[in-house]
Amino acid sequence: MKIAFAASEVFPYAKAGGLGDVAGALPLELSKLGHEVKVFLPKYNTIAEKEHKLQLLPELGEIQVLIAGNVYTVRIYSSRQPDSNVIFYFVDCPHYFCRYEIYTNDKDEDERFILFSKSVIEILQRLQWAPDIIHCNDWPTGLIPLLLRENYGWDRLFQKTATVFTIHNVAYQGKFAKEAFIKSDFDIKHALPGGIAEYNGDINFLKTAILTSDIINTVSETYARELLTPEYGEGMNDYLSLRKNDLRGILNGVDYNIWNPEKDKNITSNYSTYDLDSKIKNKKALLTRLNLSFNENVPLIGIVSRLVEQKGFDLINSGIEQLMELNAQWVVLGNGQEVYEEMFRKMAKKYSKKISVYLGYYDELSHLIMAGADIFLMPSRFEPCGLGQIYALKYGTIPVVRKTGGLADTVQEWNELMPLEEVTGFAFYEYSPGALIHSMRQAINDFSNKKVWNKIQLNGMSKDFSWKKSAEKYVRLYENAVIKRRDRV
Ligand code: ADP
Ligand code: GLC
Repeated sequence: MKIAFAASEVFPYAKAGGLGDVAGALPLELSKLGHEVKVFLPKYNTIAEKEHKLQLLPELGEIQVLIAGNVYTVRIYSSRQPDSNVIFYFVDCPHYFCRYEIYTNDKDEDERFILFSKSVIEILQRLQWAPDIIHCNDWPTGLIPLLLRENYGWDRLFQKTATVFTIHNVAYQGKFAKEAFIKSDFDIKHALPGGIAEYNGDINFLKTAILTSDIINTVSETYARELLTPEYGEGMNDYLSLRKNDLRGILNGVDYNIWNPEKDKNITSNYSTYDLDSKIKNKKALLTRLNLSFNENVPLIGIVSRLVEQKGFDLINSGIEQLMELNAQWVVLGNGQEVYEEMFRKMAKKYSKKISVYLGYYDELSHLIMAGADIFLMPSRFEPCGLGQIYALKYGTIPVVRKTGGLADTVQEWNELMPLEEVTGFAFYEYSPGALIHSMRQAINDFSNKKVWNKIQLNGMSKDFSWKKSAEKYVRLYENAVIKRRDRV
């Protein structure tokens, strides 16, 4: 199959969270399965152009894209990765993408991704490459399916092209004032009350995608079910219910070439299930680097996360004192909302002997924490898939999670019914500080029972969440979308 994959983040070029990891890994796996894959992303000025050997493609010329009545010139760069046939195309438009950030709060945020979406289609035209599938991801690419049907419906190149839309996070919807629609030259009827793109008087990119893609999926089976409820659906549940027959859940995989303690180049000492004892060298080195004392018998709790409401840090806020009384040390890496940055800043000041906090985005440190911590904490309010806990399993860093979305699908908690052979972590269900503290106490308690702890570590490390299985499920999803597209003609 020919697959065009469009995303606003693609590792190693640009990443803000898990979407980057997925968009960096799934296309490579699809290519290994024999499919022809081209990936599209904006050329942000933060991308290390030389390191990644980006090359201008003069043969594709310059594309003039009309946004809000202005014409912008787009040039196209490309790059390949070693041992892969996937081609990465970068949409270069300095006016929109030289902002030092992937996402902004600028007033033309809608324009940035309208330009990107149009450019993806225009590049396909220049390449005269007719994909079977355009796989769109999250709101920044949410207008592509409608653009393709209406604005580019005249082009026979796309007469068989089906669209697949993956919801990585329903909380980010791309909501903009009505003008966004005029800026993109859509038929204004879609923006009127009851129109495909209208939601509560605004334009909503995600809703548009839900109603116009051939197939929709999200990144775990549990989240696919949760999305249909008002509690988790963030207003999209009714539209998703309309499309229930075309909605699937496919758990994300992880790239074990990047996230694997056996060969991770970032960490101090490599290790595997055969020499798990070496893990402690990573803990020692990490604590030294953080200026915290080392004690083999005190567990180190790691957090690596975007610091946003979704991730459940208000539970930590409500339980700070009890959590800090636990016999444990903490290392936190994250950035995001000021309220949580401030919370961790204060904790680091008040409990400086127990907790070290790095506020920012730091890829290398995230690996050091995965390898050096004993426990990985993800108390999310909701979690479409979550990758941190899956990496943690591989590193023998036992996850403590809230049982929701992908966390529920990947971590098997300790309970009376579960034989130790099956257990990979600790989980709590109720969204309350009390439930979180209870799970943390359980984990810290079991940490002192080395035999049990080792068994849980080994159980997690031997789980296989590699992309192969999930990529095969995507291929079946694509096949489904192709059939739906044929029926739509
Ligand atoms: P989400 O996509 O909601 O942020 P995931 O668990 O799916 O959650 O993915 C988060 C990814 O981003 C992981 O690869 C994690 O290591 C990484 N990450 C999050 N915050 C940071 C940070 N401050 N520095 C480095 N990596 C981070
Ligand atoms: C989102 C979700 C996260 C998921 C990631 C990749 O950002 O919050 O749970 O793992 O996308 O799909």
